[in-house]
Amino acid sequence: MTVEQILTGRDNYSYLIYSEEAKEAALVDPGFSAADSLKRLSELGLDLTYIINTHHHADHTAANDSVKKLFSPQILAHELDAPKIKGGVDSTLQDGQILNIGEIEIKIIHTPGHTRGGICLLVDDKYLLTGDTLFIGDCGRVDLPDGSNREMFNTLARLKELPNDLIVYPGHDYGNKPFDTLGNQKLASKVLLASTLEEFCRIP
Ligand SMILES: [Fe+2]
Repeated sequence: MTVEQILTGRDNYSYLIYSEEAKEAALVDPGFSAADSLKRLSELGLDLTYIINTHHHADHTAANDSVKKLFSPQILAHELDAPKIKGGVDSTLQDGQILNIGEIEIKIIHTPGHTRGGICLLVDDKYLLTGDTLFIGDCGRVDLPDGSNREMFNTLARLKELPNDLIVYPGHDYGNKPFDTLGNQKLASKVLLASTLEEFCRIP
């Protein structure tokens, strides 16, 4: 089982989750341009089963259609964000749902706060792909039309319950490193250190 982090555009991260045994992959957040992800797929000789969007924003979803034309993946997103994705999706996701790529298990965690239908992906209990919910050292914006301070605070409280040894793979390169353990972030990230909603809202 492999998860590859692929920088696309200025600071977006796409992710390829793949099984070399099954020759199957999922592409998480193609971004504005999926050229580098497509190059990796063909280098590895993988079939693309799914495109999974962590949320509806265009910097994560704009290349869905161009990838769909080359491969025939199912495009998936949470049911609350799916209607806002240009080009639409093939199927919607719900909290707790499990997807499989060969032997790999991907669990969907609904994490509203940045958008109403934002999701994180827990891959084989080892990796947590957090989209724009959790960055290294910060969380996603809550001041956009779909954002909510209260929902983000509750979402972060839920993520804090997950094991410390998970690797956090964020949706943007905004931090001082491209990824980190959740345990380190619980000790270092101002948004995870806030223990009340009031404290969270006071973070600049
Ligand atoms: Fe976003």
